[in-house]
Amino acid sequence: MSLQDQLETLKTQTLAKIAAADELSAVDQIRVETLGKKGPITEVLRGMKDLSAEERPKVGAFANEIRDLLTNAIEQRKAELEKVALEKALASETLDVTLPGKRLTHGTRHVLTQVMEEIEDTFVGMGYQVVEGQEVETDHYNFERMNLPKDHPARDMQDTFYISDDILIRTHTSPVQARTMEQHDFSKGALRMISPGKVFRRDTDDATHSHQFHQIEGLVVDKGVTMADLKGTLEVVLKELFGADRKIRLRPSYFPFTEPSVEVDVSCFKCGGKGCNVCKYTGWIEILGAGMVHPDVLKMSGIDPEVYSGFAFGIGPDRVAMLRYGVNDIRNFYLNDQRFLQQFKGE
Ligand code: DAH
Repeated sequence: MSLQDQLETLKTQTLAKIAAADELSAVDQIRVETLGKKGPITEVLRGMKDLSAEERPKVGAFANEIRDLLTNAIEQRKAELEKVALEKALASETLDVTLPGKRLTHGTRHVLTQVMEEIEDTFVGMGYQVVEGQEVETDHYNFERMNLPKDHPARDMQDTFYISDDILIRTHTSPVQARTMEQHDFSKGALRMISPGKVFRRDTDDATHSHQFHQIEGLVVDKGVTMADLKGTLEVVLKELFGADRKIRLRPSYFPFTEPSVEVDVSCFKCGGKGCNVCKYTGWIEILGAGMVHPDVLKMSGIDPEVYSGFAFGIGPDRVAMLRYGVNDIRNFYLNDQRFLQQFKGE
């Protein structure tokens, strides 16, 4: 086959390949294979030395013509493919700025957290420190140090989840009293603390009982603390919580870790004391337990009851929230139902 014929065949085949290439990389490959140093055109030009002087320029000119033609065809195909790729990208990556946005649903602080933080704020304003206790406790701190020895009948009031004979999940926040008292350095001043947190009891769950609920423990120990301090403090706090017109009253009660012990009632925030369904027509709502810290409890924490005295109290924030918002089943707080929780979104 003459060189011209070879070039002619190369032209036809390469043009066909270029037309069939549908990716930029394939076109590039053709360019390297056909026009590169080791390609057939270079090969033909190299073979020209065997031609006669008459034929050489003709074949040379023809080879150059073919090379230019193929170079153009390759560039053109590349441009076409680039255009297709761009159009595809534009079509698939369009952003419709007129579409409505996705609304982010955000949660709300749990209603119990809200109530507890409100109570904390009131006490912090009166110079109390907020102490974090521990949910897994020892029998020693949960009971013994709170004046409830092993066979004490009052243990029956707090049905307990034991982990072992000595370890349990706390039935009340009162053990934080003992833990805080034994740490406190009285040379630096009075002890004033509250401790909010979860407590656990082996109750059967119903509208007013949950095996998990919350308490806020309170404790003040100093020289010369009296029951008048307890009453004054609780009056301020309960007015803050339930309204400035509220009155409080103290009724005698019993707790092993306080002596004397009291049950504290607040006048009904709904009817103002006249009697309604919230206060069960008594005008009063029972809200917390309190008392003067038992001398033995002070002694067990290394504090001399002849020198120091104190008061303590325990508030149930679940109950506060139920009363305040008219929640008639405590289990609502623990079901994580958005329809319930979202009602307490606040401002
Ligand atoms: N710990 C008691 C309970 O769980 C509540 C309580 C009552 C705490 C009187 C106190 C208190 O600090 O003085 O029933």
